[in-house]
Amino acid sequence: MSGTCSICRHLLAFAALVLLAGAAGCAGLNGMGEVMPGRVAMLSNCSECHRIFMPEEYTKEEWAPILDRMLPLVSLGEEEKMALRAYILRNSR
Ligand code: HEC
Repeated sequence: MSGTCSICRHLLAFAALVLLAGAAGCAGLNGMGEVMPGRVAMLSNCSECHRIFMPEEYTKEEWAPILDRMLPLVSLGEEEKMALRAYILRNSR
């Protein structure tokens, strides 16, 4: 059988996500040694349409309206969106 291998592509995408999440797991530890699910959610969901914008790139005031526009674009549950928003605002400039 030939043709496009959609399973392969999914596996590749999944592997990339795992790598991202792995990196996030290390860098995402805060002082308390607590993993930040918001960071993982950001790295894996906010790079679909553009590069990742890091929290430090904007102030809290700038992020608020941006997040109001961007969060509806990602398919995450309410809790994950709240974690994502909290992570970005906490680490904003
Ligand atoms: C469905 C596509 C899509 C997804 C998913 C998405 N964005 Fe965007 N984003 C855009 C587009 C298009 C622009 C540029 C045009 C605009 O500003 O609306 C943009 C612009 C931005 C900007 C630039 C600032 C600005 O005011 O334009 C930031 C920061 C941003 N996105 C953050 C995020 C974050 C954080 C997430 C994850 C929660 C996210 N985006 C998910 C489409 C997306």
